[in-house]
Amino acid sequence: MTTAIEGVELTRVGAATVMGELMRQYWIPAALSAELVRDGAPLRLMLLGEKLIAFRDSAGRVGVMDHRCPHRCASLFLGRNEEGGIRCIYHGWKFDTAGNCLDMPNVPPHQEFTPKVRAKAYRVVERGGLVWVYMGSRAEAPPMPELEILLVPDDEVGVTFVQRDCNYLQALEGDVDTSHFGFLHAGHVEPDDLPDDHPIRHTVTVRTPEYHVADTPWGTQYAAYRTAGPGLTYWRFANFLFPFWTQQPQGEFDRHVHARAWVPLDDTHTMFCYLWWKRGSSARPHPPRKDGKPIGGARPDHQFLPNTTDWLGRWRLQANAGNDWGIDRAAQRDNTIYSGIENITLQDQAVTESMGPITDHRFEHLAPSDQMITRTRRRLLMAARALREKGVPPPGVEDPDVFRSARSGHFFSDDTSPWHEIYASELAASVRPPAPLHAAE
Ligand code: FES
Ligand SMILES: [Fe+2]
Repeated sequence: MTTAIEGVELTRVGAATVMGELMRQYWIPAALSAELVRDGAPLRLMLLGEKLIAFRDSAGRVGVMDHRCPHRCASLFLGRNEEGGIRCIYHGWKFDTAGNCLDMPNVPPHQEFTPKVRAKAYRVVERGGLVWVYMGSRAEAPPMPELEILLVPDDEVGVTFVQRDCNYLQALEGDVDTSHFGFLHAGHVEPDDLPDDHPIRHTVTVRTPEYHVADTPWGTQYAAYRTAGPGLTYWRFANFLFPFWTQQPQGEFDRHVHARAWVPLDDTHTMFCYLWWKRGSSARPHPPRKDGKPIGGARPDHQFLPNTTDWLGRWRLQANAGNDWGIDRAAQRDNTIYSGIENITLQDQAVTESMGPITDHRFEHLAPSDQMITRTRRRLLMAARALREKGVPPPGVEDPDVFRSARSGHFFSDDTSPWHEIYASELAASVRPPAPLHAAE
């Protein structure tokens, strides 16, 4: 079980919190590159509870900094993004993307002190169509994580953002909670509804999966297994990767190159950043039922609200707590959709938001089916405490190649070797991105 103290340590992400310090060791995906245009309006950005702005200057460089002007704290969101920097509209001070003060036009020339003033700017890189931010304090930023999806060419990476109105941990845990799939997403699907080779056939044949769990160099991993015929096992692997990434099992293992970040905007809001390979298994739509009809509750698209300039105004879905996530009680009753909710991401969104802004872990009764969740919480907590108490860098910060060996997905195997050996041989036989395309930053 998770104690009240552990619950607080795991879920709070502000500066100087245990988990907030851990998160600040890593590069964080913050926005789509396409959200920032040269000399365009700055973007309000909330990350780890900090109010920031992002802008792209005249040369195309991206700046991410505290929104407060270091003169008298007017918001640089109001600023003029012009001629290689952002100019505060209060007294005209101007800053470049690195936070250097370029101009102090309200101060007589003999009194100005531009070299002594810096905006609080963070290191930024762009990769995979995303703007990444390093919010830590190292003089030299660590290398980018070598996630498989970041090793394919940028133009082959698809990105989806969806904001979720709850703490990052309960959102993330949905991706490593294997037994919910046969209920929340597929409780209305019977094996006989599906062709023999349908990817979820075995998930709905056995709704009580057994699975192995282990710590790995990148975080944690589970391997759910079901007998699929004489001498044949159906495997489903999934991963948690430090500090907030997952890889889920719903895709053919051999091409399932993807990663899912659950980026804490603050303690009670999370940005789901889904990066998927356009030539991989995530790009394939869910195959239909035997009768040719689509599987209920698997509508692929998201219905977004228009983005606003609010701190938390980006990539919100139309269906939310205020309209009960569009739940259709008739569909629920006649079992055309078990949950009554029409889209898989939205089903996950509904159940995790319904827990409240931050789950009260004292109210839980964890079961053997939750052992991946328990292990992942423990792994996060131990790493965060080791960092705080002994200064131990958490996994993947100084050894970013550990992420390269993380792959998830499903496959059949007649191999009777130990499960981690089956994983290694399946990975070796998979389509793999080439060696790193980008040198370490
Ligand atoms: S507050 Fe920004 S220039 Fe004065
Ligand atoms: Fe789910």
